Amino acid sequence: MDREKTNKLSHRLEGIISLVEPTHCIADIGTDHGYIPVELIMRDYCDWVIATDINSGPLLSAANYINAKEMNEEIDLLFGDGLQPLSMEDVDTFIIAGMGGLLIQRMIEDKLDEVNSSHTFILQPMNAANRLRGFLYLNGFKFIDERIVKEGHHYYEMFKVIWTGVVSLPLDPIYYEFSPILLERKDPLLSELIQYRMSINHKIIQDLTLKGKAKEKRAWLIEKNTRMEALLDEYHIRKMD
Ligand SMILES: C[S@@+](CC[C@H](N)C(=O)[O-])C[C@H]1O[C@@H](n2cnc3c(N)ncnc32)[C@H](O)[C@@H]1O
Repeated sequence: MDREKTNKLSHRLEGIISLVEPTHCIADIGTDHGYIPVELIMRDYCDWVIATDINSGPLLSAANYINAKEMNEEIDLLFGDGLQPLSMEDVDTFIIAGMGGLLIQRMIEDKLDEVNSSHTFILQPMNAANRLRGFLYLNGFKFIDERIVKEGHHYYEMFKVIWTGVVSLPLDPIYYEFSPILLERKDPLLSELIQYRMSINHKIIQDLTLKGKAKEKRAWLIEKNTRMEALLDEYHIRKMD
């Protein structure tokens, strides 16, 4: 069949797809519109996609989109929560994108007993990326690659991990918030993200009073900004305006 080779995707979705390596079967958890599975087949990244969602509305729109692209043979749609509806041994790579970090963590935790070294996870949390990183480091996952993608005023963090079973010692929490891989790589968007978060903290610090809980929060934010300053210096990644 003669097919288009690609669609125009958002920068965020392009970033996620750029972490994928060709393989046999990829699962897209919480597929919503079905853009990711269709793109994976269009680009010949895999032979088979299992796409899941917990809501019938998104599943219906994914089904319509997959039908329109005539990809019913290559893409299976399953209804259910997280990784529950599929057999872990069928899947090489899991993509879990566009959801909260703690929800992504819970989905992986639910199947942690069945995760093995043949599984790759590509994760794009919309928040709590630090909590998700911490969970992964402390549960035997190894970080293979990371990206930050900026769309408008949003910085989207995304990472690829594999399970090795080697549990790392707890890191300084700053390295769960700001990726060691991107720090080493001196990623310009990471420098921008650190300075952006510092400027938000700075505004909050100015608005907080010097009494009670507000005073404690203020001191904590000042300490945090000092730590971020040190990170910019240590890795020589300060962005000059
Ligand atoms: C914001 S969309 C993200 C869609 C797509 N993954 C992306 O990155 O563009 C989140 C989707 O996850 C689905 N979802 C939420 N909780 C889920 C769960 N526990 N299991 C499976 N899907 C879930 C929602 O129904 C929704 O379609």
